[in-house]
Amino acid sequence: MNILSTSLGGLDLLASAVLILDADGRIAYANAAAESLLENSLKVLHKQRLADMFINGEKLSAIFEQAREHQFDDKREDLVLERVGRSALQVNMIVTVVDDPENPVLIELRENVQKLKLDREERILDQTQANKELIRNLAHEIKNPLGGIRGAAQLLEMELPDRHLKELREYTQVIIKESDRLQTLVDRLLAPHRRPHIVGDVNIHEVFERVRSLIMAEFPSGLSIRRDYDLSLPEFRGDKEQLIQAVLNIAHNAAQALAERIIQGDAELIFRSRIVRSVTLAKVRYRLALDLHIVDNGPGIPADLKDRIFYPLVSGRDGGSGLGLTLAQTFVQQHRGVIECDSQPGCTDFRILIALP
Ligand SMILES: Nc1ncnc2c1ncn2[C@@H]1O[C@H](COP(=O)(O)OP(=O)(O)O)[C@@H](O)[C@H]1O
Ligand SMILES: [Mg+2]
Repeated sequence: MNILSTSLGGLDLLASAVLILDADGRIAYANAAAESLLENSLKVLHKQRLADMFINGEKLSAIFEQAREHQFDDKREDLVLERVGRSALQVNMIVTVVDDPENPVLIELRENVQKLKLDREERILDQTQANKELIRNLAHEIKNPLGGIRGAAQLLEMELPDRHLKELREYTQVIIKESDRLQTLVDRLLAPHRRPHIVGDVNIHEVFERVRSLIMAEFPSGLSIRRDYDLSLPEFRGDKEQLIQAVLNIAHNAAQALAERIIQGDAELIFRSRIVRSVTLAKVRYRLALDLHIVDNGPGIPADLKDRIFYPLVSGRDGGSGLGLTLAQTFVQQHRGVIECDSQPGCTDFRILIALP
């Protein structure tokens, strides 16, 4: 049979990518999902060797050879296909040997979304752990000499001859003031890791309401906060102050990003609470979790920052410390949770998931 002479149009309706390879391993056919997965039209893909499209294509070549030699009828495999200049494709692949000597191999590819998501969460967790250590070590490294620098500047000031005191004191004061500023920064870096966890029963809507009143006090006009609460959510054990700080940091960023809309008067924040069933956080499966959203209609997170906003000292604002989201992530993780972010212009959605017992 010649498989290409059969009607393949229906395959464009499938969500799975379908490719038919000729005896050389070149693409003879790709359905619409395959075009979108490979980010090229069939016109461009046609006659290209599939294995050549990936840095580690030799894996595909090997499977193709086995298929051509008919070592199996069909085969399933999870693959990570690396591409030049783009993120790798994580796919679940099914290879089927077809009874057509000219086009002997049919490949189905499905993007492994679940795995992608797990990997991402795992990365966030690892990253936060690494951040914490980095911050702690760095803060201590800075803190120790800082005391010495400040002290030396004070001694120097006392030794200054009277006739130069006026002009030179300006310099020693710069050293002292800047040391104090760094000291405050360092203390803020160390604080969250030192502060004890004060655990009690937390009603998440009280957390939202506190943050709401703090934000409204700071941005009294031009910004509205819409509440979309599921009031049936249960209370849970946690540190209310930490959670308020986490939500406040997120909402505060949103309000800052909304500056232009606040002037126009149509800035909006949404606080949403829901419950979700069956979530996996840090590889552990939980039956129930709080699903909280803080959504703003601002310009969105700048593309160059998107992957790094949870890193310490990453800020898109003049004078920003870049610590707000790092702290928020740490606090939420201490509650068996995670913060994720999805951002487009006009809709930035910070999602907090917290596992319930
Ligand atoms: N809702 C948002 N909309 C647009 N950009 C955001 C939003 N939230 C965070 N950001 C970006 O992420 C950066 C990091 O935030 P954060 O860690 O709180 O540090 P800081 O607020 O001190 O800059 C911000 O400077 C901003 O560029
Ligand atoms: Mg901030």
